[in-house]
Amino acid sequence: MKKNWFQKELEKYSKLSGYKKPEKYSNMIKLDSNENYAVSLEFLQKIITEVKENIDVREYPLGGTERLVQSISKYIGLPKEMIGVGNGSDQIIDLILSTFASKETKILTSDPTFGFFEERCKLYSIPTIKIQFNKNMTLDLEKFLLNTKKADILYLDMPNNPTGFQFQRKDLEKLIREFNGLVIIDEAYVEFSDYSVIEMTKKINNLIVLRTLSKSFGLAGLRVGYFVANNKIIDTFTRVIQYPYPLNTLAIEVGIMALRQSKHFTDVAELVKKERSRIIINLQQMKIFEVFDSKANFVLFTAGGSSQRIYKALIEQGISIKNLGTIGSHEGCLRVTVGSQDMNSRFLTAIRDLLN
Ligand SMILES: Cc1ncc(COP(=O)(O)O)c(C=O)c1O
Repeated sequence: MKKNWFQKELEKYSKLSGYKKPEKYSNMIKLDSNENYAVSLEFLQKIITEVKENIDVREYPLGGTERLVQSISKYIGLPKEMIGVGNGSDQIIDLILSTFASKETKILTSDPTFGFFEERCKLYSIPTIKIQFNKNMTLDLEKFLLNTKKADILYLDMPNNPTGFQFQRKDLEKLIREFNGLVIIDEAYVEFSDYSVIEMTKKINNLIVLRTLSKSFGLAGLRVGYFVANNKIIDTFTRVIQYPYPLNTLAIEVGIMALRQSKHFTDVAELVKKERSRIIINLQQMKIFEVFDSKANFVLFTAGGSSQRIYKALIEQGISIKNLGTIGSHEGCLRVTVGSQDMNSRFLTAIRDLLN
């Protein structure tokens, strides 16, 4: 029987691989998804218990996102009219792409780039120009500048997932200024990095900066993302593009309480940075890996032909990291999230034992 248009469309989409989620293991030291176990669960649970007493889940969260935006505004020091929220920054990426991008708009990004972003481009058949990382896992500004005129949208996750690379501030600022289209800078890991370009949104009206509470605030399970851009983008997004109630009441109220205690999370981010250095130094000292510098809460290293063996042996020891395979000319790339001090020590001990 002849397929109708819907069956043909469904057939086309069913062939896509979609975003590959990590394996779900129980009782595992989970260092595979750049979550933040350095934040104490007790601290977050205290907030949740307090919030639970004061919410009424029978109601739609009317006015909730507006109050969350007020709290974000205080945290980042920019006006509330420049802030929008989403069900994780994933949802913001999705809505921006599905609204503003199409087969006709080209996206300039890095290779590798954030996996979910890449999958979304495939879903919406958006063509991409990808600039490869250099051998030392850094990016070449000149290569981007040469391609700016060929693209309509620039997307960069800075720091980049999975490499941990962040452009020098002046290079990124130059690229943003020279790009004559929509610029999306994904700052999911900004709290662990050296700088932010968020202030540029005051002057550059085609710039969107994405942020999240999933990483430095340790709230990945609540799905709270936000973005900063000029008033017109925010007004259009919030009034027309975004769903009326994108976040649930619990996520909104816990988000507000966490943002009120942002100092606590800033201190945790400092600890993560120290632990990141400890992991990098220890892996380097083992002398068999190539270890890359990182400005995020994870570390990328290459184990060549041994990567699969190391990955599997760690799983057997109850430690899950991310097995990325080949990136550019580097075979056997592995990415480990910086966890709590204890988790990091257990990871380092396990990997040392494996090599002996
Ligand atoms: C670069 C980047 N952007 C966004 C996200 C997703 O953030 P959220 O949890 O807010 O959807 C991630 C998560 O790993 C990420 O690596």
